[in-house]
Amino acid sequence: MPPCYRLQQLTVQHLAGGAGAPALHAIDLLVEQGEQLAIIGPSGAGKTTLLATLSCSNKPVSGVLQLFGVDPWALSEGARHRLRARQCLAPQTPPLPPRQRVVTAVLAARLPQWTLWQAFASLIKPADPQAAFEALQRFGLGDKLYARVDRLSGGERQRCGLARLLLSNADAFLVDEPLSALDPTLSQLTIATLQQEAGARNATLMCSLHQVDVARACFPRIVGLRAGRIVFDLPREQVTDAMITALYHNDAAHTDVPVAPAAPARLAVGACL
Ligand SMILES: Nc1ncnc2c1ncn2[C@@H]1O[C@H](COP(=O)(O)OP(=O)(O)OP(=O)(O)O)[C@@H](O)[C@H]1O
Ligand SMILES: [Mg+2]
Repeated sequence: MPPCYRLQQLTVQHLAGGAGAPALHAIDLLVEQGEQLAIIGPSGAGKTTLLATLSCSNKPVSGVLQLFGVDPWALSEGARHRLRARQCLAPQTPPLPPRQRVVTAVLAARLPQWTLWQAFASLIKPADPQAAFEALQRFGLGDKLYARVDRLSGGERQRCGLARLLLSNADAFLVDEPLSALDPTLSQLTIATLQQEAGARNATLMCSLHQVDVARACFPRIVGLRAGRIVFDLPREQVTDAMITALYHNDAAHTDVPVAPAAPARLAVGACL
């Protein structure tokens, strides 16, 4: 079986034309199918960019990217879309339609498996409310099955987004800061549920986290990212407190005001008249 993800010297730049520092700089990463790893690092390190790149939302500027053994950017758009559908990305703030019922929003995870007609029919009458209920229940949210999405709290919305992972048939879960709006008890339940599901179907689980203690307690492999580079990629037993301190060391304590980028030359309109 090919690795789930293979990245070699992968560089990603958000701004076109090479302006600014790359968000990911010459990243090497090999993730086997079924592995569970946490991505940690300070704000702006590139965690979200990495997950978005794996889900084909960002096109790398250079290097090798393979998903399930295939370079997504060498494929036609349709084929890339199908490859992409083998993974499920849960963003930190799931983009759920505000007026939709939770049941419909969760069942939308099955869209890639449905025909257009099935998708349309499920909008009118949810196709499998029992499955949606069971997925929500595993995140302690069964009572919200028929609630409107815009009446959920931040943490409930977040778990609603995670419940979609369980209904997808994805081979890889990419989860961006799933605990940012959750209390400690729900955090524990959430990580346990994600890990159980990924383990049961041998799906890969890559999870970005700001909770370093949770990462170290729960994930067998920890990747430390800082300023777009991998600082360490180790089994959790080998990650030391000193490594964590260095990873989060704040060297941005300077007080210089950044210089604004040069404005484009203005047209001297008056001079033309
Ligand atoms: N759409 C964008 N356009 C331009 N630059 C971006 C964009 N998104 C992110 N960046 C920049 O890329 C870098 C990495 O950002 P990213 O969101 O991946 O960090 P992160 O590790 O997820 O941070 P956080 O912990 O705050 O979520 C940052 O310098 C950020 O300013
Ligand atoms: Mg982020």
